[in-house]
Amino acid sequence: GATADHHFGDAEFVVVANRLPVDKEVLPDGTVNWKRSPGGLVTALEPILRSQTGAWVGWSGIADSNDNPDIEGIDIHAVPLSTQEIAEYYEGFSNATLWPLYHDLLVKPEYHREWWDTYVDVNRRFAEETAKAAAEGAVVWIQDYQLQLVPKMLRMLRPDLKIGFFLHIPFPPVELFMQLPWRTEIVEGLLGADLIGFHLPGGAQNFLFLARRLAGQATSKGTVGVRSRFGVVQVGFRTVRVGAFPISIDSGDLDAKAKSKEIRNRAREIRKDLGNPKTIMLGVDRLDYTKGIDVRLKAISEMLEEKRLDPEETVMIQLATPSRERVESYVQMRAGIEQLVGNINGSFGSVGQPVVQYLHRPVPRDELIAFFVAADVMLVTPLRDGMNLVAKEYVACRSDLGGSLVLSEFTGAASELRSAYQANPYDLEGVKDAIEAAVGQTTADGRKRMRALRRQVMAHDVAKWAESFLGTLASVTETATDANRG
Ligand code: ADP
Ligand code: F6P
Repeated sequence: GATADHHFGDAEFVVVANRLPVDKEVLPDGTVNWKRSPGGLVTALEPILRSQTGAWVGWSGIADSNDNPDIEGIDIHAVPLSTQEIAEYYEGFSNATLWPLYHDLLVKPEYHREWWDTYVDVNRRFAEETAKAAAEGAVVWIQDYQLQLVPKMLRMLRPDLKIGFFLHIPFPPVELFMQLPWRTEIVEGLLGADLIGFHLPGGAQNFLFLARRLAGQATSKGTVGVRSRFGVVQVGFRTVRVGAFPISIDSGDLDAKAKSKEIRNRAREIRKDLGNPKTIMLGVDRLDYTKGIDVRLKAISEMLEEKRLDPEETVMIQLATPSRERVESYVQMRAGIEQLVGNINGSFGSVGQPVVQYLHRPVPRDELIAFFVAADVMLVTPLRDGMNLVAKEYVACRSDLGGSLVLSEFTGAASELRSAYQANPYDLEGVKDAIEAAVGQTTADGRKRMRALRRQVMAHDVAKWAESFLGTLASVTETATDANRG
């Protein structure tokens, strides 16, 4: 029970994420406008945030800013970050230590004690801000690898809260995780939650092993199911649940938009602007080394060389959003990708007809949907990806049952999207074969595959994901409260 109620907030449901659900827009006349960001998480949680007293704790994305943007119906609690904190907590520990460590060491993680110290400090500030926002007994949902210490810190401040944590990226194999000098602190940080969610059962099982090995806690040992058969960790008198909850998208909204006349027309116009090629291939990613953009470019380059693709009939569009541009590994990767694009166009393009069309900028939502509708072959080739929402977005946009999806086995989405053309991204011949099969598929086979993919994506949307996680959190905390009373 709580004693000093006076400093509690009044939010009954609090989302805690590195980023706030808003983007700052400075209009030509200098006035500032905060736009709701279009992400799936915001869309899924907005109705829940509005139906109760809801709050969102996060960083505005701007250095040294005391801005506290106003969003109707959601109480925003901005956590300001200094330039140095951005360098050490965000670019450093989150994106140059944890990100590569959790993505199969695709680049070498850097371990710096100062970065860790700042990660601890910033996590503490998020926990304190959350403690201020939450009403007694509130439900708090903490998101992602940037905030893995918040569950424990928050529980120490506010034992009355129901705390959920969801990891949006892969949880690595034990052998890799053991490199981390602060491995025990991270596992104990997460164990402050009542429910810890991963995309896949494998991640949940990796975590259960570490809870035994590093935190010395008793755990269940059976296999974890998808949205079922949760793992259990006994932490003193508390029971922590561990589960797999694969995230999804707002499928219905995309489906409807993709069917609209405006988008259909725009898709036709895109094809025409490209010279009505036989095959449009598409890649859509944050510019990140995990995404395997190089893999698909190398595959296409070799297929052109071997005349398995005709440069007169094929256009590849790569849309790449700039990301984490001050982290060195991202700078290097960008140079590599741009060189590959240049090589392909230099060798196989002709004047006015490049094979690869590459945009290094975010594309407006409606325009992106038109690209999905126009694309004959969607290329999703990450070397490792927690889920990959782009694959699901493409499928949601294809109610015409056209198009084909080439999908890396090493994405979370691969375990749900079984009817895609799947390939091992490290096996370039295999990737080329998958692309060839997708390009050459018969209409009938393509429709059959797309129908099966759509059954999965349309049935499991992001609202169901949130419902399933929060429903599980509610049921486990109710049981715990009953047990304490009993
Ligand atoms: P990650 O979370 O690692 O960036 P996901 O595929 O899960 O990868 O989600 C990426 C999101 O960003 C998707 O909603 C996708 O549509 C969007 N996105 C990616 N690249 C672009 C782009 N160039 N323009 C607009 N949106 C993009
Ligand atoms: O899904 C992983 C993730 O890092 C999210 O936590 C994040 O919001 C998104 O990718 C984009 O990355 P960033 O916030 O670093 O721009």
